[in-house]
Amino acid sequence: MSSLANNYNRRKISFRNGKGSFLYSTSGKKYLDMVSGIAVNSLGHSHPHLLKALTKQAKRVWHISNAFQAPEGEKLAKRITKNTFADKVMFVNSGAEATEASIKVARKYFSSIGKKRKNRIICIKNSFHGRTIAAISASGSKKMIDGFRPSAPGFDHFVFGDHKKLKKLINKSTAAIMVEPIMGEGGIKVIPDWCLRGLRKICNKKKILLILDEVQCGIGRTGKFFAFDYAGVKPDIVPIAKGIGGGFPIGAVLMTNKVAKCMTPGTHGSTFGGNPLAMSVGNAVLDIVLKKSFQQRILKLSNYFFNELNKIKNDYPKIIKEVRGRGFLIGIQLHFNQSNFIKSLENNYLLTIRAAENTIRILPPLTVKKKEIDLAIRIIKKVCKSYK
Ligand SMILES: Cc1ncc(COP(=O)(O)O)c(C=O)c1O
Repeated sequence: MSSLANNYNRRKISFRNGKGSFLYSTSGKKYLDMVSGIAVNSLGHSHPHLLKALTKQAKRVWHISNAFQAPEGEKLAKRITKNTFADKVMFVNSGAEATEASIKVARKYFSSIGKKRKNRIICIKNSFHGRTIAAISASGSKKMIDGFRPSAPGFDHFVFGDHKKLKKLINKSTAAIMVEPIMGEGGIKVIPDWCLRGLRKICNKKKILLILDEVQCGIGRTGKFFAFDYAGVKPDIVPIAKGIGGGFPIGAVLMTNKVAKCMTPGTHGSTFGGNPLAMSVGNAVLDIVLKKSFQQRILKLSNYFFNELNKIKNDYPKIIKEVRGRGFLIGIQLHFNQSNFIKSLENNYLLTIRAAENTIRILPPLTVKKKEIDLAIRIIKKVCKSYK
């Protein structure tokens, strides 16, 4: 009987160690890992550059309160602002903390300019922004909030793609629109670039803020640093987490100067936010992910992956409904419940993970090799064949 709480549906498999794209189980089996801790292990397992950065920092100092200067955090923030839309960065520890803090920033911005009643956030129904009370309220998912009511007030929802409803929802109480450029948990649904540009236009016209949740789709996962980079839009606030830590817990809120000004001393805080260990690993992740050649490699290899997956879809149209996503954020939507298929992939030593709407999520490390993609393709084909 486990002493761990029962809040996860854990698979009966445990791992001793990992190297690159592979995980080695305690029973001696080798698995190709296309879960990557759900878009977290951006550079795979035991990447030497990350190991070096972490152990070097571990020997210096582990933790310093935010009451003092933070040189490692300063360095990471500077690099983020130099390379993105952001002017300021506020560090936290997880995705939910980052989305929740983003909501706080949006409300504080309007409060600080004397518009205290402008505090509602518009989100997509059944999106995913984390598991705090505010984040599940933002997600608008009945399943996530049931049992935990009352939900936090201040959120309005529209169904993915329902532009009419979205426009109707905007009123004088609206502070921001918050969406994931690619809905991860929601089934790898990509918001088209023209829609993201449309959202920016609406926000400008209505003088409200645009929050783009890049917790899952950001930090190179799509082949660009941010998924919204494809649309060429400039958001006001962006929560990030997952990939920036490469496996070490980090979250952050990226902001323009306009909104960041409202976050004066004492308005937000987090004991572990900006922890030197986390900041050192984040800097090491950026050393690699910011390279244009690294991003181009992701684009090239992911195009290949998509082509191969679409060939399988064409061969097995009764099994695969759609292959979608961008870069290495890939969704294979089946015509039926995906659980057994995922189990069959695992039995063939390929690890993948579910998303909503019968979707199998494929999230290889960004460092994945072509021959590893070929191995995944062979396994997916084999499992499709076994369904005939
Ligand atoms: C888009 C998005 N936002 C927020 C979160 C929450 O992140 P965390 O689990 O680190 O709290 C997730 C997690 O999957 C996510 O995909």
